[in-house]
Amino acid sequence: MPDSRSILKMPVPFRWGVATAAHQNEGDNTNNQWAAWERQEGRIQNGQLSGKATGWWDLAEAAADFDRAADLGLNSLRLSVEWSRIEPEEGVFSATALRRYHEMIGLLCERGLEPMVTLHHFTDPMWLAWLGGWENPRVGDYFGRFVARVVDALGDQVHIWCTINEPLVYAYSGYLEGSFPPGARSLPRASRVLRRMMLAHGRAYRVIHAAQNDAMVGIAHHMQVMLPAHPGWLLDRYATRLADHLANGTSLTAVLLGRLTPPIGWGETVPELIDSADYMGLNYYSTVRATFDPTRPAELFTRRFLDPHGELSELTKSGQHFSEINPRGMYLALKRLSAYKKPIYITENGLPDRLDAIRPRFIATHLAEAWRAIQEGADVRGYYHWTLVDNFEWSEGYNLKFGLFEMDPETRARTSRTSAAVYARIAQANGIPRQVMERVAAGAVPTYFAG
Ligand code: FCB
Repeated sequence: MPDSRSILKMPVPFRWGVATAAHQNEGDNTNNQWAAWERQEGRIQNGQLSGKATGWWDLAEAAADFDRAADLGLNSLRLSVEWSRIEPEEGVFSATALRRYHEMIGLLCERGLEPMVTLHHFTDPMWLAWLGGWENPRVGDYFGRFVARVVDALGDQVHIWCTINEPLVYAYSGYLEGSFPPGARSLPRASRVLRRMMLAHGRAYRVIHAAQNDAMVGIAHHMQVMLPAHPGWLLDRYATRLADHLANGTSLTAVLLGRLTPPIGWGETVPELIDSADYMGLNYYSTVRATFDPTRPAELFTRRFLDPHGELSELTKSGQHFSEINPRGMYLALKRLSAYKKPIYITENGLPDRLDAIRPRFIATHLAEAWRAIQEGADVRGYYHWTLVDNFEWSEGYNLKFGLFEMDPETRARTSRTSAAVYARIAQANGIPRQVMERVAAGAVPTYFAG
C-alpha cells in the first residue's frame, strides 16, 4: 500500500520507549534462581556472570541511562521489579528495596518517561525456587501477595502494569528445553508451570485493579509467528496450526477468553482469567517455519526451524541463529492480536547486532509494518525497543548485544550506536519519515511511499 505522504504517522498519543528487565540491568542481584544458575558450569556462554550488569541498582547510573532515553525523545520506559529484592525471604518485605524502586521510577517520571512496570521477568526469589518455584500450587498466592505490596508502594507513580513477561518462554526454556533454570526437560512440568503462570496472571490482574481502578494491566506475550515451510502442503499447514496453538494459542486463549486449552487444561473456563487484559503486550522477534515431520512423534510430528533462506541474526550459544529477521511478521502478529479488540503495546522488538549493521533498517521496517497494521485498524498504542543498553542476555551472557547503546564490558562506558539516532528521529517525528527510510532501507521505500 504505497502512500504519497512524506511520513508514516503513528497515532497520537503514542508511547515511544525501550524495554528492560531488572536482572539484566541492575547488577548485584544475588538472591534469585538465575544468580545460582549462572554459577553452575556450562550454563552461561563463556561462564559469564550477570555481575554488575548495567549498574542500575546504583541510581546515579540508572539516571544517566534515563537521561539517554529522554534525550532520544522517548516518552516511556519499561522496566521490571526484582521480587527477590522486595521479598528476600518468604513473607518478609523490604521497605528499603521498595523505596529504592520508588526513587528509580521517580527518576523516570521527572524525565517525562512514563513507567511501564513488569512484575515478573524470568527471575524468582531463592526461597520460592526452594519451594518448587512455579510448580508449587501456592505460587499464585505468593505472587498475588507480592503484587499487592508493589502496587501499594508504587501505585502513585505507575499506571501501566505488565504482570508476567513471556510465560511461555519461561516454561519452555526452563522446563522443556532446559536452557533456563531449573534446566528440566519435561512436557508435563512445562505445562504445569505455564498453567500456574496463567492463573497467577489472572490473580494479579484482579489484585491490581482492586487497588487501582484506572490501571492498565496486561501481559507480555512472546509471539512466534508461525509460517508453513511449504504453504501448499496440507500436512505442513496442519503442523503450523498445531505449533501456533502451542506457542501462541494456549496463552492468548487463557488471557483473553479465560479458557485453559491443552496442554495446560481441558477447555475449562477460569472466571478470574476471563478478560484479564486491558491491553495485550506483544514481544515480537522472529518468524518461524513449521513442517510435518514423521520422525518426531514426541513433538506431535511438527518441526520448527528458522528459514535458512531468510535473513538471520547472530548466532546463540547453541549454534542456532537468534531469529529470522522478518518485518512482515510484525504485521501478521498485530493483525492476529487485533482480532481480540484490545489495545496493543509492542512491549519488545529488537535483535542482537553487535555491529549495528542491520538494526537501523530493522527498526524502520518493523515500525512501517506496525503502521500498516494500524492503517487496517490495529489499536497499537506504543512501541518499546529491546533494549536501551547492551545488557546481560540470560544464557547468552554479554555476547549478544541488543542495545541502542553499546556498553564496554570492562568500564561500562556507553557509546551511542547509529540506531539510537535513527530511533530518535522516528520517535521525535511520531512516525517514520520518508527520509529516514531512504537512508536506512532504501529498498523498502516503494513499499510504503508512492512517487
Ligand atoms: C526476550 C526477553 C528479554 C530479552 C530478549 C532478547 O524474550 O523477554 O528479557 O532476553 O528476549
